[in-house]
Amino acid sequence: MRNSQKIKAVITGVGMYVPETILDNKYLESIVETNDEWIKTRTGISERRIHKSGPTSDMAAKSVLDLMKSTGLRAEEIDLIIVATVTPDMFFPATACLVQDAIGAKNAWGFDLSGACSGFLFALETGANFIETGNYKKVVVVGADKMSAIVDYTDRNTCILFGDAASAVLLEPGEDNKYGIHDSLLHIDGSGKESLYMKGGGSLNPATHETVDNKLHYIYQDGKAVFKVAVKGMADISVEIMKKNNLKSEDIAYLVPHQANLRIIDATAERMGLGKDKVMINIGKYGNTTAATIPLVMTEYYRSGKLKKGDNLILVAFGAGFTWGSIYLTWGID
Ligand code: UT7
Repeated sequence: MRNSQKIKAVITGVGMYVPETILDNKYLESIVETNDEWIKTRTGISERRIHKSGPTSDMAAKSVLDLMKSTGLRAEEIDLIIVATVTPDMFFPATACLVQDAIGAKNAWGFDLSGACSGFLFALETGANFIETGNYKKVVVVGADKMSAIVDYTDRNTCILFGDAASAVLLEPGEDNKYGIHDSLLHIDGSGKESLYMKGGGSLNPATHETVDNKLHYIYQDGKAVFKVAVKGMADISVEIMKKNNLKSEDIAYLVPHQANLRIIDATAERMGLGKDKVMINIGKYGNTTAATIPLVMTEYYRSGKLKKGDNLILVAFGAGFTWGSIYLTWGID
């Protein structure tokens, strides 16, 4: 809880990048045993985007350039770049370094943050804390994932779910205490590690012919197990942050959920007492883009005029780790 603080971090700009190549359900029908009807009814997904022409840093940098174009932010003004991703270009250097170089942010430092589907929330909270110290004026927080790089397109359990995208926000100190990030509740529970993970490539299972043959460099997910905890985790934390801040459903303009499954999103909204018109949804077009889903859907709603200054938002996510959390903020851009 940070209501009494003098400096509040406000989102003052947004940017996004979605690749042009579309992978629709019809195409997936041609490569695995699945069908459009099953995918739509079980997940809400019709299509997803695939970034064929470059790595995660390329999408991330493009989303920051879009943010700069729409706000007038100059590269040299950026103090800090935080990139939430589980698909970094390489183990090192950090994707943040590659983004910094690509956009020419010569006065910035930065780092990557691995929070899977909750990565953007963790990075937003981290960025907000830097702003609140008073030492940082312009923090860029990016959620970017090239999930197609770690998806096994012979596994129908996972290949239907994920897509590629990046989206970025600018955090600045607010002039008015009304707008910005008011509160957050964030959690990790590593006992869930084997329900959703990539087993190979790290120090546990360094890459060998055997790890490649055994497909350890792809996403593994026990969908049913994750579904159960995600429904409970997302709904519980959303209700908890509402109660903690004395918010009724009528006080909230939008729920901004991580886009993993429309059924999980619907269950969360129902527990919060929110109608469908108060839930930001774009999963149908992009699938699950991991760290990118939340900034991407906020950017689209803002740019289409649906998200307005003064709107109260509850952001919520659940993902691998397990990781989960919620952030309460008031939108501060005209
Ligand atoms: O973002 C990070 C967090 N991740 C999540 O939140 C994802 C959580 N999990 C889910 O969203 C869902 O569990 C899935 C969408 C992954 C799967 O949906 P489900 O309703 O849990 O299906 P299921 O895994 O229980 O499978 C039901 C049936 C099975 O057949 P049998 O055993 O009943 O004969 C599956 O083999 O559907 C079958 N199935 C498919 N059928 C057609 C599984 N995948 C497919 C498919 N197409 N792509």
